[in-house]
Amino acid sequence: MENSLFIRSAFSLPVERPPVWMMRQAGRFMKEYWEIKNKYSFLEMCKTPEIAADVTMLPVNLLDIDAAILFSDILVTGEAMGGDLSFTNGIGPRFANPVRTKADVDNLQTGVLDKLQYVADAIRVIRERLNGKIPLIGFAGAPFTVMSYLVEGGSSKDFKLTKLMLHNEPELAHRLLSKIAVVTADYLNLQIEAGVNAVQIFDSWAQALSWDDYREFSHYYIEQIISRLNRKDIPVISFCKGSSVFAPMMAEAAPDVISVDWNADLLTIKRQLPEGIAVQGNLDPHILYADKKVIKERILQLFERMRGQDGFIFNLGHGIMPDIPFDNVKYAVELIKEFSY
Ligand code: CP3
Repeated sequence: MENSLFIRSAFSLPVERPPVWMMRQAGRFMKEYWEIKNKYSFLEMCKTPEIAADVTMLPVNLLDIDAAILFSDILVTGEAMGGDLSFTNGIGPRFANPVRTKADVDNLQTGVLDKLQYVADAIRVIRERLNGKIPLIGFAGAPFTVMSYLVEGGSSKDFKLTKLMLHNEPELAHRLLSKIAVVTADYLNLQIEAGVNAVQIFDSWAQALSWDDYREFSHYYIEQIISRLNRKDIPVISFCKGSSVFAPMMAEAAPDVISVDWNADLLTIKRQLPEGIAVQGNLDPHILYADKKVIKERILQLFERMRGQDGFIFNLGHGIMPDIPFDNVKYAVELIKEFSY
């Protein structure tokens, strides 16, 4: 695996072309996903290793992508800690027992790896299916983002209750974040042990935070998690919406790759970062709704900007939306794979 385009780029080594994968590549924009989804609930899919492997393999087989990502969700850590998690079509994730008081925080468990063994089992099945063809990316949610779902009880537009806890009850917030961070580091080590070739930490909603709050309530815990990984030659990717602002601070946690949203000029961000930190990104996923002519123009523009840079992984600034035409995604991947430096 150390010779794959993806791993070489993640470690900022020279490659003949940038590797490509896309966040939410194993998902609802594929009719083959729905053929499976119509038979099982989302959590059943995550918890049945053979099914999780089938879904992980869809973009590998249908898009010929350069890296696979484990089919799971960032909220499984919250569930293992005691959250009553469900996913409903059109509504999204819900925790029926939100975490709002000291007693709620104290009730959450931290020694929960036995409840996450199904993820290790899925990783082993996927590794067998991949048969060394491309690397497998494991992942977890960053403590702040997972905390926001636990506190709000689901998705939120303004993170009002979460931010209120940070501001009015910072000790309680730290107690909660510390617990999530311990579980997250253990969980990523479980994935590494089971055989993932890289890990990505998703802090999707960090952009809700001010600079100082990001440092205190998010960055601090990501740094702790990265320093606790038994990672040998496993690259770590740090993603947040807001990376165009927070990238210099994210670099202090010593990830190998920073995944950048589409607000920023990728080359400018790369130049701000210390030598040896790669960037991943950063096409606006909405471009994949547009005409193929526009898709081609925008991808070539990004590639021309990054020409000659080691340490560049092509991705979107955030996940693929469920109604993006499959044909457009396939076209984008084919175009990227034709590119050479
Ligand atoms: O990227 C991949 O293809 C791998 C699988 C993956 C899923 N979720 C599958 C999923 C990954 C890496 C995630 C991460 C995740 N989950 C994040 C971080 C990335 C991001 O998008 O910012 C977040 C915030 C979540 C939480 C989550 N899970 C939400 C808010 C939702 C509902 C909204 C939505 O997009 O549907 C989910 C459900 C979810 N996770 C689905 C999938 C394929 C849809 C499930 C379904 O088919 O109903």
